[in-house]
Amino acid sequence: MLTKPNMLVVDNNVAILNKCSQLLLSRGYQVRTAESSQEALYIVEKYPADVDIMLLSLELSRLGAMSVIKVLKKTKSKILIMAMSADCGEEAIEAMHAGAYDCIRKTFTVERFWTKINRMIERFRFGRQLDIVKKQRQTLLMKDSHDEDTLQSILNTIPESILILDQQGSLVFYNSNAASLFGLLADMALGLPIEKCVKNKNLLSFITETIKLSLPRHSAGHRESLIEMDDVRLRVFMDSLTSEDDTVIGFLIQLDDISQTSAMDQLKADFMTMVSHELKAPLSALLMQISVVLDGLAGDITTKQKELLGKAKEKTKGMIALVNDLLDLRRIEEGKAVVVIEPLDMAEILQRSIDIMSLSAKDENITFDVNIAKDLPLFSGDKTGMQAVFINLISNAIKFTPNRGRVEVELKKSGKDLRIKVVDTGIGIEKEDIDHIFDRFYRIKTERTKNIGGSGLGLYILKGIVEAHRGTVHVESEIGKGTMFIVSFPLDK
Ligand SMILES: Nc1ncnc2c1ncn2[C@@H]1O[C@H](COP(=O)(O)OP(=O)(O)OP(=O)(O)O)[C@@H](O)[C@H]1O
Ligand SMILES: [Mg+2]
Repeated sequence: MLTKPNMLVVDNNVAILNKCSQLLLSRGYQVRTAESSQEALYIVEKYPADVDIMLLSLELSRLGAMSVIKVLKKTKSKILIMAMSADCGEEAIEAMHAGAYDCIRKTFTVERFWTKINRMIERFRFGRQLDIVKKQRQTLLMKDSHDEDTLQSILNTIPESILILDQQGSLVFYNSNAASLFGLLADMALGLPIEKCVKNKNLLSFITETIKLSLPRHSAGHRESLIEMDDVRLRVFMDSLTSEDDTVIGFLIQLDDISQTSAMDQLKADFMTMVSHELKAPLSALLMQISVVLDGLAGDITTKQKELLGKAKEKTKGMIALVNDLLDLRRIEEGKAVVVIEPLDMAEILQRSIDIMSLSAKDENITFDVNIAKDLPLFSGDKTGMQAVFINLISNAIKFTPNRGRVEVELKKSGKDLRIKVVDTGIGIEKEDIDHIFDRFYRIKTERTKNIGGSGLGLYILKGIVEAHRGTVHVESEIGKGTMFIVSFPLDK
């Protein structure tokens, strides 16, 4: 039987509170309500079993919704949060970034309400099933239990395809959906290395890549990707299974066939890519024209006009950066961070990126110190991706370094790696922020950064590209002194 999640609706607007409660009650869900964040947290603490899904208004007064999300996250709560807001704007992005699962507009129609809530309920059920599978599989890999039949029957009830690998990447378990997806005969594939069972190149390299990334670190890495296999579009999640001392003992791979549901998403995403492409050329032309007027090449301008045009120029630059980010992000999310692999002259790509960025550096009176080693070996990688890595690092260094600062860029061979170092004399990053700067949409908000533009996507994109090339990123920073980013790519394949 399917588990029914319990609901908590939190809003100080009684009309919304009643509307949500009535809809949920009409389908037999148990509903509690709270009119403030304090009351919500009290209910969660006092009756933990009564709250699986929380519909949380982002327009609460006093403590506010963000503090509820933060407290739940801190206590590692499994409650899924649906944010509710008037327009699902920036505060919704912030809430989702902090841990909310989705956002719904308060002006929702009944149909929209159920589409969103049903998606959450599915997520809730899936989380429960995965917990059971993970627990069972963990004990099995530890060889403490022989209850394989029970596990097999649980796995077979799951609508997704599930594969479980041991530490060496050999198949130790799969459910019936996986058997039909990969054409595996009952029990015959057990013990075989994954290369023998999965023929799709992209999927196989995603799996082997994740194994490689997780093993040396003994960490429970979680990765996901979208992969086309024959005519099927799959969303693939891969998670490592760990023993109590955190050593990786195996891997759980879950494959969702999203061919149907993704058709509409695909359309939307394609539209977004198209719009981004279409915006790029006119925005660049606009930037050029503003610069011409600003530099006095079209006649004299007054100080006031200069000031206004300067602002327009900055905003235009911001829009171009956002459009570029959106285009890059699409590539990453489609699992195509590495598009064309070819031997690359990294020195040349770096030099070109520096040339592109040197105008902004000049505007800010920032000195560039470039040090590129001679006779570097060619590196097999994706050219556009490498350029995005360089540009992201350099543009951050320039952006977050005050006037008259210095940015040092170095490219050299270091052991078996190719190493790019970008050092700035900028504002620096707090220790606790360093862990988050690679998250999607994460931007540090302080007095010093509030006027600096950006979307918080640059480093997220960079990390995707670097990992797709088996590289690593290292950051060191000191507040007020500056920041150093080192990206290393292994030269041997
Ligand atoms: N060199 C740096 N010095 C200080 N802070 C930095 C530096 N690089 C990144 N950060 C911090 O990390 C955050 C995330 O960086 P990221 O490049 O992802 O986003 P962004 O530069 O704000 O926007 P985008 O790159 O999408 O235009 C930045 O907003 C900034 O707070
Ligand atoms: Mg950036």
